[in-house]
This record gives sequence, C-alpha cells and structure tokens, in this order.
Amino acid sequence: MQNLDRIVQEARVDFSATDDPDALEQVKARYLGKSGRITALLKEMARLSPEERKATGQTINRAKEAIENALSERRDALRRAALERRLAEEAVDVTLPGRREVQGGLHPVTRTLERIEALFRSIGFEVADGPEIEADFQNFTALNMPEGHPARSMHDTFYLLDENGAVADDVLLRTHTSPIQVRYMQAHVEKYGALETMPDIRIIAPGRVYRVDSDATHSPMFHQVEGLWIGANVSLADLKGVCADFLRRFFESDDLKVRFRPSFFPFTEPSAEIDVAFMSGALEGRWLEIAGCGMVHPNVLRHVGIDPEKYTGFAFGMGPDRLTMLRYGVSDLRLFFDGDLRFLRQFV
Ligand code: PHE
Repeated sequence: MQNLDRIVQEARVDFSATDDPDALEQVKARYLGKSGRITALLKEMARLSPEERKATGQTINRAKEAIENALSERRDALRRAALERRLAEEAVDVTLPGRREVQGGLHPVTRTLERIEALFRSIGFEVADGPEIEADFQNFTALNMPEGHPARSMHDTFYLLDENGAVADDVLLRTHTSPIQVRYMQAHVEKYGALETMPDIRIIAPGRVYRVDSDATHSPMFHQVEGLWIGANVSLADLKGVCADFLRRFFESDDLKVRFRPSFFPFTEPSAEIDVAFMSGALEGRWLEIAGCGMVHPNVLRHVGIDPEKYTGFAFGMGPDRLTMLRYGVSDLRLFFDGDLRFLRQFV
C-alpha cells in the first residue's frame, strides 16, 4: 500500500505547515476525523476477505500511529514555541535601575503648625479642635458680639445656604479659631464646673478659617492658631511671657523684639496686637503684626458659665501662614495654597 506512505508523508507536511494549535486540530480531522482519509480506508476494508483484512488492517493501523505521532510532536513543538515566546516577552531585566517611590513632603504651613504645637506642648498646653462649619453663637454671640454688633462686619463672613436656598443665618464658615475657645470652655464647665476649683484650661487650637478676602497677603481660606489659658490667677504678665517666649523659640532668635500694641477685640479686655521685629535679615528693624491677644472678656466667661470673679485668663490668635512666610522668606501668601509643586518642593 504505497498509497498509505504517501498519506503519512502528506500529513507530516500539512502538520509542519501549521503554526496555530487550533488550525492543527482541523488538519488532524482531515486524516483521522470521521470522514478523514485514514478512516475512509478503514471503512473500505469491509470489502476484503478475512485474510487480506488482517494484513491490511495492520498496515493501516501502523500508518495511523505514524500520523498520530507526527501530530503530537507538532503539538508539543507549538506549545514549546508559545512558551518561549511568552518567556521572551515577559522577560524582566533585573539589571535595570529600580523605579523609586515618589517622595512626598509636608506642606510648609503644616510644618509650622507642627512646630507651634510642639513648642506649646512643651509648656503644658493641650491641642484642641473644633468644626469649620460653625454656629453663629460660638463664632460671634458668645464672643461678646451680639447680633448687630459692629465688629461682626469686620469679619467678611461666608454664610451657608439652607435646603431652600436661602441664607441660613445661624450657620457659617468660622471666621476665626476663637469659637474653639467657646466650645472648649463649655465642655470644660460641663465636666468640672461643679467642683470647688476647676482645673486650668490651657490649650492651643490650630485650624482653617474663612473670610471673603483675597490678595497677596489674604486668602479666603487661611490658618489661625488660637491660644487660651484660664485659671485662678492668670494675668497679663503671663500672656506677655508665654507669647514672647514662644515667638523667640519659634524664630530661634533670642534677640527678637516683641511688642504689645494696644488694640480692640470684643472678646478681650484689654486687647493688644503682638508685633515682632527681627534684628537681622531682609526685614531688619521692621515691626510685623503676628497675632491678636488680650485678657478674656468677663462677658465671654459668663456666656460659657465661668465666674469671672473667680477665674481670669488670656487668649491669643495668631497667623501661622504669616509665621511661615517670615520663617521662609515668602512674600506672597497665595503661593502656599496654589498647589504648585515647584514652589512647595523647596520646603521638603
Ligand atoms: N479672633 C481674633 C481674630 O481673628 C484674634 C484674637 C484671638 C484676638 C484671641 C484676641 C484673642 O482677629
């Protein structure tokens, strides 16, 4: 049956001409499938005599085996080739330099806030917190600014809209961190007010505040750090000592000049503005306003249920953005809040 050798030969040629595993199975069907050529030959054997049938059957089966072997060789070859292709494609060059994590850093104002917190913690102050969306009572009324008080108009307040789109007159974005004083004192009185002597309140409260204002030295969002010390014998001397000492430590300058200039705030009496002057550098000899402060007004203490005959205290509110500008020599406040990484990276 030389015919058979030719079929085997053709099958080998067909298999090796096929590069695709699915196509290979189609080609296989042409030889070994239901209507394949080998199958056809096996069917034809029905016409043969029993003796012939045995010999022919063996020959055909040998040919069939040869085709099956050729097929599985080809399958293996394709599988190996596919694997090699994948290995080549997915190869990792371990000699390439690694990709570094992008290194982030703290915002300069955040660094200032952390520095302020650390310095005040070192003299026994706690760090307090309060909401940025504030009630009219805490932001104004309790701070001795009743409705219609002219001082309210010094704060260009962002009001919020209620669900009907009307201006909600009792909720606003806090215009200063002073409402945190109020909230802290209220909570303190609730906790200790019934005691014979109430423990001192000694806190600072850093946070974002908001006013309708924007130019090189004003941003609609800026930061303040509130300070408050209430106790049995807290005096103006304590206020001056704490603030002057803090500022000298903050600027790492023992000869920093600190001045308390009389001023007005409805919630302190007397009130002062704190100015500093550097003894060297670009700003040498110029007085710069850094904070507002004063002795807490008796009306504020009364609003939170503290007896002003028994307790006194001082408060201050300073601008950490301003402190950051001075410490790093930045002249435009807006740079801090524009999010330009070329600027911010310089402080990392
Ligand atoms: N809250 C005042 C302001 O924003 C600053 C201040 C705080 C003044 C505490 C006195 C005491 O202008």
